[in-house]
Amino acid sequence: AAAPLAYQVALSDHARSAEQRAAILAGELGFGRHFTDHMVAIQWDKANGWHDARVHAYGPLALDPAASVLHYGQEIFEGIKAYRHADGSIWTFRPDANGARLQRSAARLTLPQLPVAEFTESLRQLIAVDHAWVPSAAESSLYFRPFMIATEAFLGMRAAQAAAYYVIASPAGAYFAKGVAPVSIWLSEDYARAAKGGTGAAKCGGNYAASLLPQMEAQALGCSQVLFLDPVEGKYLEELGGMNVFLVYRDGRIVTPALSGSILEGITRESILQLARDRGLQVEERKVSVDEWKDGVVSGEISEVFACGTAAVITPIGQLKGKDFAVGDIDAPAGEVTMAIRKELTDIQYGRVPDRHGWLVRL
Ligand code: PLP
Ligand code: COI
Repeated sequence: AAAPLAYQVALSDHARSAEQRAAILAGELGFGRHFTDHMVAIQWDKANGWHDARVHAYGPLALDPAASVLHYGQEIFEGIKAYRHADGSIWTFRPDANGARLQRSAARLTLPQLPVAEFTESLRQLIAVDHAWVPSAAESSLYFRPFMIATEAFLGMRAAQAAAYYVIASPAGAYFAKGVAPVSIWLSEDYARAAKGGTGAAKCGGNYAASLLPQMEAQALGCSQVLFLDPVEGKYLEELGGMNVFLVYRDGRIVTPALSGSILEGITRESILQLARDRGLQVEERKVSVDEWKDGVVSGEISEVFACGTAAVITPIGQLKGKDFAVGDIDAPAGEVTMAIRKELTDIQYGRVPDRHGWLVRL
């Protein structure tokens, strides 16, 4: 294996003061609105591999206008959080899984592989300078956004021969404005986010660009997120624009769409499957039709539905709406199973219960 990257650290000369930082952290954090004082940058090129690892002031990037990311969308990203525990220590959750997913995304987008150990190290390097930005209020965290772009100045179609990896970080509260209150979901019948053989299983910016129009339509209709169906038959649940989805049956089963090749393999999803098995729930990963959801809610067989992801944690879904139907009750309280799993997951992340699966890594 290659030797670990050596970082050069240059502290920002325009970092916010402790008072300015405290004022930001005490305010309404929302999601992705505030950024810390520093960032990580690592360069890659075909001849030299990964090199020039730096921590420096957060600020604009200089890119050649011919950089392939700007023309062909060669970009991938990750989402992972740092949690402050009661004793002040800072931990992250399953970084090996995010690092491995970044590698899978890189393979699909013909970007270079960042070693998983370097992925975790990049988070640690940023925390070393920006640890004071990890909030301590309940349900708050520091959201890392690691990403990789193709920087080579070349308009021909080929895998870029130069790329850069960055990490920025954002102190975050609840993703949805109303916190853990149940949300409404809009069924997208006109649009898919991914295609058979496409990039749905990769975390690449293009997938999100494709989901913005249906997402805006959903919001105009009073819904918080869009549900996408499989791109082949248009019948089976895939996922939401930025979250996976689970159905809870009254008889104790918990069901989520099987990985189809066009769904993002969520780390929250996988962790919930484990926690559900630990609780003795019967876990099913399989095809789920949208009719199964609608009929199950109407008959009462399905008692709870929820969305999950790093940003959204676990958010109850109160209602599913489409062009000619609406099922569920947006004013009903969040489901018991949903909230119990949510509590257990967040208790592990915030160090309130033992981490029996060894998911936490200290930063
Ligand atoms: N699905 C999509 C499309 C996402 O963007 C995300 C968020 O990262 C997820 C699912 C959930 O993945 P994870 O739990 O790893 O955050
Ligand atoms: C995440 O949960 O990390 C996401 O990437 C979802 C969304 C903000 C795009």
